[in-house]
Amino acid sequence: MNNIKKLTNDTSQVFNAVQDSLAIIDTEFNVININTTYLKLLKKDAKEVIGKKCYAVLRGSRCSTEKCPLKKIIRIPKVIEIETEKCFPDGSRVPLILTATPLISDRGKLTGMIQSFKDITDFKLSSKKLEIVLDEVIKALSVTVEVRDPYTYGHQERVAQISEKIARKMGFPENRVKALWMAATIHDVGKIYVPSEFLAKPTQLTEIEFAVIKTHSTVGYSIIKNIDFDLPIAEIVYQHHEKMDGSGYPLGVSGEKILIEARILTIADVVEAMSSHRPYRPALGLDKAIEEIKKNRETFYDPDVVDICLQVIKEKGVKFFAA
Ligand SMILES: [Fe+2]
Repeated sequence: MNNIKKLTNDTSQVFNAVQDSLAIIDTEFNVININTTYLKLLKKDAKEVIGKKCYAVLRGSRCSTEKCPLKKIIRIPKVIEIETEKCFPDGSRVPLILTATPLISDRGKLTGMIQSFKDITDFKLSSKKLEIVLDEVIKALSVTVEVRDPYTYGHQERVAQISEKIARKMGFPENRVKALWMAATIHDVGKIYVPSEFLAKPTQLTEIEFAVIKTHSTVGYSIIKNIDFDLPIAEIVYQHHEKMDGSGYPLGVSGEKILIEARILTIADVVEAMSSHRPYRPALGLDKAIEEIKKNRETFYDPDVVDICLQVIKEKGVKFFAA
């Protein structure tokens, strides 16, 4: 008997010592037990919570909806893990990972669930900090190339802004817009290997000089291909001079074999480059750029992206595109 009492006490101590928030809820939505960490998160004591309906005292954003983890477990008794937030009456929010584990009796009957919350505030802050650092590294890499090629200073940044506008208009999810922004910001990074005399040459380039400049998309790909991005940033850079009819470089791939992000970047690159000054010519102007993408719509450029780009031009005006 003493052993059972000790074990019960030990179990209760462990339940309360766990740093994650834990609550046991039965299939009638009654809170059977709740640990100290969870009570601290709720700023309540046990008497206010135990025996009450979970949706009345735990105030989850999924309460009384079909997303309620207990309702889901009643339908299909399996472990659920989701990222969520707990909102408080004072307007504060705590980001959490919610895990709901079904409780099954010896007879195989569902009796309730253990709900646990892991506070991921610190993790979110570290991720945000890392994201800011990565953005700064990307911008630093972009400036490194442009310092060697002052005539195109700001080119990549403007191409990134144009690409971002097109991607948003096309309904890209946030992570893909961000990946495209990153790729566009460093799309010419491979020019670091091109002699700066070629980049700043005020007269027409020779065939050999142009061939050297053309290596920049492959070199750019090699520089960033080992960075473990979740999205194909290196591949977008690699393909940013490919054309729809296969007449581009370096691989001469065509149509949908070119990533949609690269097809957007190609058009943004052309429009920005034609709208801005170059060492060997004054700015051709936005009208010439519009003429170019309309003339080669389908042959060189993705027709849908051209149409969206024309809409962006209409909405944003000349200033947005030219240096
Ligand atoms: Fe390029």
